[in-house]
Amino acid sequence: MSTADTYRMFADREARDVSPAYERLSRAVARDPELLAMLDTLPPAKRQPNLLFGVVRLRGGPVDDPAAFRAHVLAHWPEIAAQMRVRATQTNEAGRCAVLLPVLAALPQPLALLEVGASAGLCLYPDRYAYRYGDRRIGDGEPVLDCTLTGVTPPDRRPEVVWRAGLDMNPLDVTDPSDLAWLDALIWPEHTHRRRRLRAAAAVAEADPPLLVRGDLVDDLPALAARAPAGATLVIFHSSVLYQVPPARRTAFTELVRTLPGHWIANEDLTVLPRAGVPDPPDGGFHNLLALDGRPLAWTRGHGQAATWFGPVRP
Ligand SMILES: C[S@@+](CC[C@H](N)C(=O)[O-])C[C@H]1O[C@@H](n2cnc3c(N)ncnc32)[C@H](O)[C@@H]1O
Repeated sequence: MSTADTYRMFADREARDVSPAYERLSRAVARDPELLAMLDTLPPAKRQPNLLFGVVRLRGGPVDDPAAFRAHVLAHWPEIAAQMRVRATQTNEAGRCAVLLPVLAALPQPLALLEVGASAGLCLYPDRYAYRYGDRRIGDGEPVLDCTLTGVTPPDRRPEVVWRAGLDMNPLDVTDPSDLAWLDALIWPEHTHRRRRLRAAAAVAEADPPLLVRGDLVDDLPALAARAPAGATLVIFHSSVLYQVPPARRTAFTELVRTLPGHWIANEDLTVLPRAGVPDPPDGGFHNLLALDGRPLAWTRGHGQAATWFGPVRP
């Protein structure tokens, strides 16, 4: 896929109806031969819209007006390119816990959670956040995760978590101001509610930091899984991670995870799980596919704002 196609597809699938500013920018970049040629000097994995826009936001550059954005990128390209080479999109969205909750709550309790591609570990606290599924409110305090659930009854309680661990090739630390600034820059411009949520979730993590291990999702997963306590259901889960992993390693991971004890929850783009037999997503917007032990259950919106169930939580 060309870089222009990547930006066009981002506008159509991810930004449309979700971030007008990023939709405008990505369409403008897709039509701009000079910007595209500059992006093409980077390795393919580093040309992504979210990475470019996040780096510009981190620098305090303009993202509302495509002409001002273009002028900023042209004027500061060496610094922007250097940042894009060393950074990665590590958006950590606590809101995704709201689409995981119906599955987590249905598993035998208590749980030992192991998140692969955990970023700063903010999805490791599904037992600490509050949830609002329409009229159903679960838990109290902040952050409150709003989610529209269709085709499934919301759980009536949060799971019990006795162990939480994250594996990431570059774990972020919410107590480090520069890591928190990068997580903030990765949130899309209009999403002030997500920015508030990041701060509230970071406070939860700061009060009881997770075990975060630097490592690879294939090479280092068995050793971390072996550290989970006996007497709890091990849940290995991942959300919006495998699109960053080369196909051969992705296959190695999905083969490995099936050999480990406990349960496996995937909340990923279609690149990960075969789509056969799965109904179409509810509308044209971007959706992840949620699956338990390889069994597709629901379409979920990218930041956990909605989930449409088509399979029973329990087989
Ligand atoms: C987009 S973030 C998602 C974070 C989190 N799962 C969430 O849903 O908020 C993807 C994370 O996967 C990590 N990652 C990518 N490839 C990896 C690998 N081979 N092994 C471990 N972590 C990896 C990245 O470093 C990044 O923190």
